[in-house]
Amino acid sequence: MDTQEYKYKIKETFNNAAEGYDKPALRFFLAAAEHLANSMKFAGNEHVLDVATGTGLVALACAQRLGAGHVTAIDLSDGMLAKAKVKAQQQQLTNLDFLCLDMEASNFNADSFDAACCGFGIFFLPDMEAGFKAIAKHVKPGGAIGISSFTGAVMDPLAQKFIERILTYGVAMPSLSWKRLDSVEKIHILYQAAELERLHTYTYQVGYHLAGFEEWWDVLWYSGFRGLLSQLSSSDLARFRQSHQEEIELLVEEQGIWMNVEILISVGYKPV
Ligand SMILES: C[S@@+](CC[C@H](N)C(=O)[O-])C[C@H]1O[C@@H](n2cnc3c(N)ncnc32)[C@H](O)[C@@H]1O
Repeated sequence: MDTQEYKYKIKETFNNAAEGYDKPALRFFLAAAEHLANSMKFAGNEHVLDVATGTGLVALACAQRLGAGHVTAIDLSDGMLAKAKVKAQQQQLTNLDFLCLDMEASNFNADSFDAACCGFGIFFLPDMEAGFKAIAKHVKPGGAIGISSFTGAVMDPLAQKFIERILTYGVAMPSLSWKRLDSVEKIHILYQAAELERLHTYTYQVGYHLAGFEEWWDVLWYSGFRGLLSQLSSSDLARFRQSHQEEIELLVEEQGIWMNVEILISVGYKPV
């Protein structure tokens, strides 16, 4: 798949996912956004770039902490951005703007921002190091650059069962992009390549019990997993859903179905 085709697929996946990305079943994204915004330790007057903003969870969490500052948030998916704009209006936040832009094609001037962040987005870049360096270039000396990523056995055993089963339907399995950045060591290499310093990485468990299979289906349907489900014909999708539901319901405990979500929040600084 060439780069243009890959980007088109990402855009299509997230345009489809936009409608339900903020559903309660996916609330780990909100928890992660709060952790990332807190870790940025804003003074309150910064101009912040939020890359791959999606429905704006990180941008909104930052804007809430920037009483005298501003957030510029970019994403490839106009569907995700439309949701972000509605939420900003609902929260009566006016200190942010959203732009439909590919993070690899953004041409902000060097040192335009006081800080930059990116929630669960860097690992989608075909060339992570080059893309991350370009983001760092937009930040002024001394500025913070923060990212979130997944680690550990993300969403297992649910995700593992999902993948094993969907592979039996002959779907093309893209490499799991988040695995490209799932350890402190990998993040360290990325920050070093961009010549950032004072890197701190924190681990959080933001998992919870899902109420039942319907909530797990929401996670699949409104996240990157949608790209796999959309490869099935409607009859295969119905058949898949039925047999997957049966295996997932065997995992129900008293409190629901445990979904493990461990995340890494990393913040490093541009040398002064
Ligand atoms: C998992 S979502 C994360 C959204 C949000 N940052 C959060 O933490 O909830 C990943 C987002 O990355 C965006 N994305 C992927 N590649 C991109 C690129 N090259 N430029 C801009 N956005 C991109 C997708 O459109 C999607 O909205």
